[in-house]
Amino acid sequence: MSVAHAARMLLKDTRAFATVRWTQTGFRRAFGSATDGTAMRNLFGQVDETVNPQPDTADFDQLVWVADGWLTGGTGLVLRRIQMNLDTWDELDRPGRELSVGRNLTNGAPLTGTNERDEPDFDAKDALGFPVIPEFSHMRRARSDGDGERIFRRSFNYDDAPDPGEVSNSGLIFVSYQADIDRQFIPIQRRLDELDLLNQWTTPIGSAVFAIPPGCQEGGYIGDTLLS
Ligand code: HEM
Repeated sequence: MSVAHAARMLLKDTRAFATVRWTQTGFRRAFGSATDGTAMRNLFGQVDETVNPQPDTADFDQLVWVADGWLTGGTGLVLRRIQMNLDTWDELDRPGRELSVGRNLTNGAPLTGTNERDEPDFDAKDALGFPVIPEFSHMRRARSDGDGERIFRRSFNYDDAPDPGEVSNSGLIFVSYQADIDRQFIPIQRRLDELDLLNQWTTPIGSAVFAIPPGCQEGGYIGDTLLS
């Protein structure tokens, strides 16, 4: 409701000089349907957004809000439209699905733990000597050694009308916020591009970067730190 209303208000006010080129709808859990702080699930059924900076902490402020220049108080947004192939995902057995990310499907716990928020043990080996969490798993590849190379993810599922002959047209509108896209997002994306088991079932089909200006003072306007 809030998003639909906000979009309507913005579009109404700008219709004298702007037209709608495209829209993309997406969804998360309905507000109030899960306890606060519960990670969402994506259309692969995975618990998603477990490892994420917490809003209203110094860590979050530093990672997300730009500290100086015209975008001070604003942030950088990366949006990637990533198709998820549910048909081939369905062909994969449960262990395969869990290995692809390195977490279980029941509660999102790492394969070396029992609770969602347990720290993964990337050195643990199984009886045959193989890593319990594969080195090419999405979690391992997405995890950075550097503390500053982290992002705030807040994605939306999409489930659009299928093309003729298909039964689904689904995926993730991956959204991440970070103060410095080059320093924080790009190294992660490069690693996933190079090697990530999840790539077997996902295909990025659109990508865009936005500067999100800060809110404005009374009497000001959104974007005035850039334009005035
Ligand atoms: C359809 C595509 C994707 C799916 C289904 C997906 C799913 C997941 C899942 C299930 C997790 C584990 C739970 C969690 O901590 O959230 C995860 C972790 C993560 N993903 Fe993705 N993801 C996708 C794309 C991406 C992309 C494009 C990026 C960034 C370039 C990304 C970055 C991360 C990061 C940083 C983590 C946390 C890693 C850590 O444990 O430190 N993901 N993702």
